Amino acid sequence: MLNLTAEFKARTAELPGLFRDVFTASEGEDEGRAVGALAADLLNTTPEDDLLGVLAVDRDVLAGCILFSRLHYDLDPRQVFLMSPVAVRTDRQKSGIGQKLIGFGLEKLRLQGVDFVVTYGDPVYYGKTGFQPITETVARPPMPLSMPQGWIGQSLSGDQTPIEGPSRCVSAFNRPELW
Ligand SMILES: CC(C)(COP(=O)(O)OP(=O)(O)OC[C@H]1O[C@@H](n2cnc3c(N)ncnc32)[C@H](O)[C@@H]1OP(=O)(O)O)[C@@H](O)C(=O)NCCC(=O)NCCS
Repeated sequence: MLNLTAEFKARTAELPGLFRDVFTASEGEDEGRAVGALAADLLNTTPEDDLLGVLAVDRDVLAGCILFSRLHYDLDPRQVFLMSPVAVRTDRQKSGIGQKLIGFGLEKLRLQGVDFVVTYGDPVYYGKTGFQPITETVARPPMPLSMPQGWIGQSLSGDQTPIEGPSRCVSAFNRPELW
């Protein structure tokens, strides 16, 4: 039975390996290594208040994971999080786990008072869980985007007004090549 949980800390040691394996299978070895390293960096360097991990676990086997980290908009009172990276174990993909896990993570963030969530990915897939293309005037990315069409987001509070001012990501994302 699939269990969704935000108790990610107990399994921190396993998470970079999940991201590495999933992205190696889908995008090749270099990308796998890079996303595994990004996950390790996020888990090791992000202040507790600025990071949420959600897991899908099936009979103690890790089936999926999403990390959410804070985007600081110093000129806007709203709380904004970035959803990245997202991975479902290769042999468990396309059975609904990804969408369930995204929905679970968004609800956790909403209950924590988070107002807006952005991600950088395929608008078709993430559109299934409420993400819509946004422009840089709706929420300014922390760095220039190489694929602006992948900048997508959704309000969790109903407030659709643009987020004010520039943004800062957590240090693990502070690398232009990730954007
Ligand atoms: C992308 C990913 C998270 C989706 O999770 P999943 O559990 O396989 O997806 P779900 O079963 O919830 O959703 C399946 C649906 O999304 C579609 N879908 C799955 N992966 C997709 C992709 N990469 N692009 C577009 N559509 C995709 C399927 O066709 C299916 O459509 P349907 O509901 O109309 O049948 C997962 O496949 C994965 O980890 N992929 C490799 C890593 C990756 O690309 N991560 C995202 C970038 S950070």
